[in-house]
Amino acid sequence: MNILEIIAKKRDNKILTKEELNFFVENYTNGNITDYQAAALIMAIYINGMNYEETTNLTLAMANSGEVLDLSELGKVVDKHSTGGIGDKITLILMPIIASLGIPAAKMSGRGLGFTGGTIDKLESIPGYNTNINISEFIDNVKNIGISLMGQTLNLAPADKKIYALRDTISCVESIPLIASSIMSKKIAAGAEKIVLEVTVGSGAFMKNIKDAEELSKTMIGIGNLAKKETICVLTNMNEPIGYSIGNSLEVIEAVEALNGNMKEDVKEIILALGSYMMMLAGKGENIEENKNKIMENINNKKALQKFKELVKNQGGDVSYIDDISKFEKARYVIPVVSEKDGYIKSMDNEKIGYISSSLGAGRLKKEDKINNKVGITINKKIGDKVNSEEILAYIHSDDYDIGIKAAQKLKECYEFSKEYIEKQKHILGIIK
Ligand code: URA
Repeated sequence: MNILEIIAKKRDNKILTKEELNFFVENYTNGNITDYQAAALIMAIYINGMNYEETTNLTLAMANSGEVLDLSELGKVVDKHSTGGIGDKITLILMPIIASLGIPAAKMSGRGLGFTGGTIDKLESIPGYNTNINISEFIDNVKNIGISLMGQTLNLAPADKKIYALRDTISCVESIPLIASSIMSKKIAAGAEKIVLEVTVGSGAFMKNIKDAEELSKTMIGIGNLAKKETICVLTNMNEPIGYSIGNSLEVIEAVEALNGNMKEDVKEIILALGSYMMMLAGKGENIEENKNKIMENINNKKALQKFKELVKNQGGDVSYIDDISKFEKARYVIPVVSEKDGYIKSMDNEKIGYISSSLGAGRLKKEDKINNKVGITINKKIGDKVNSEEILAYIHSDDYDIGIKAAQKLKECYEFSKEYIEKQKHILGIIK
């Protein structure tokens, strides 16, 4: 078997065998296959697609390319993953809630890349918080306090790490078999028994329409079931940012406010949907509405906030920042984005908003870029809001005045207006089991 034959087969839209996919994954991970050969194969997969069996075989080969954890000693661990979005601070709020309900919360998260943010970058904006712990510390943390959030270890699905980074440099991210294999290989290797996936749909997501999001969901659920990990997908709206903040410490601040009971309506809907299904999978209640009430109870009585503080303290973070969010360092300039138009907001170019936030330093446009925790965007007006000219649409938080002014102009161009009434967006677009 050789890589040239495998590339040619996929180029000619033929089906790859399990052995061929194993050969590719093993030899690309260990460096025997070059980046340019892998890029050719990935591009051929992007263009010609894969059938369900090929996607499953690719996923399992990637999951087995490194360590496969077994978290069963912790009890019924339910993992959560998002397909990515703008202002998505859901993990920061949801996992402490889950832990406060007595469900082990053991999650490895990723960093932001391109227009989407990453939970690990957000956590690292809390001074001292260590995302780089080893597996035994991770497991001990969950045993001791019920929660640990860490970065993905080097040896967990290493094939995904290489393939994902490569896809990002050759414009091959938005592909159903490649996203499904990337996410499910990590989830299988991370060792949870059950999985809830937040599948984002819209202008700020990799899946731009419901049909593709449903196909991605069904593919991931099928792979999960095959790996004996019951999987549920919650389709969420990514046509506008989640909540009101985009950027690392800005999102931590919003998450802390949410755990203090001050939660934006869209954030609440998503938290309740994902959380109630996580509870169901963990065996903590079949009645979704009752589960939602229990979640609200642990927000209102501050048990979830308490759990977040325990998490921060246990991983070396300075809890005084959680007690007093005004301690987070601010960007040098906060520039209002003033509307020049009247009317209802009809749409927001959410992907562009993600790129504007990255260009301020909140995300990485290249893998090597350094993150600036302080910068980002706070959103004042979203789809369906009525706006008069001179009203403030958003604020740009920037350390550089000229970059901030340019970002403000670009952000204004992300808003489209209508004279007609526009309804507010729905945030939960479907549940697929
Ligand atoms: N998130 C992932 O982990 N992988 C993808 O391919 C897309 C989103």
